[in-house]
Amino acid sequence: MKFPRTLVFTTLALAAGSVLAHEMKPDFVIGYRQGVYKMIRWNFAPMVEMVKGEHPFDAAQFTRRATRLSFLSHQLDEAYPPGSGEGAPTDALPAIWEDHADFMAKLKDFQREARALRVVAETGDEARTKEQFVKTAGTCKACHDTYRAE
Ligand code: HEC
Repeated sequence: MKFPRTLVFTTLALAAGSVLAHEMKPDFVIGYRQGVYKMIRWNFAPMVEMVKGEHPFDAAQFTRRATRLSFLSHQLDEAYPPGSGEGAPTDALPAIWEDHADFMAKLKDFQREARALRVVAETGDEARTKEQFVKTAGTCKACHDTYRAE
């Protein structure tokens, strides 16, 4: 079956339009970024336990979780559009949009260290992996200290 070109393009335009409209809605954006952080925590917590020695170090599991962490860190690039600091319950502080360049630099720090964590985890070197994990965790704290309400 052949669709008239205009119908196809109209349908595509409507679909894209509704996505953009959704992106502008604060609860949609805020829910998205909190969801990403929830997935981050899901993978982060078992790594904390391994680093603390509460669970035996498992290189394969650690690599899997570090790979997810690195992937998820990049999903935050789209999570702070202008105007998404209010409109739904959020712990994101206004400073994020007042000094957006610094905030994005802190996000980049996290992305760089999370990637380094994946790379070192793949080598199976327990000591270096744990060291890099502590460094990565430091980038979470560095951002939370300034940009997240306690
Ligand atoms: C560039 C800044 C930044 C970095 C880096 C960052 N966070 Fe956050 N985090 C925030 C902000 C801002 C919020 C609040 C988001 C909101 O409520 O809208 C948050 C919220 C959270 C939440 C609560 C999510 C919820 O609502 O349930 C968790 C958990 C979390 N972060 C964990 C982490 C961990 C673990 C790392 C590092 C592996 C990390 N974050 C790195 C800025 C950051």
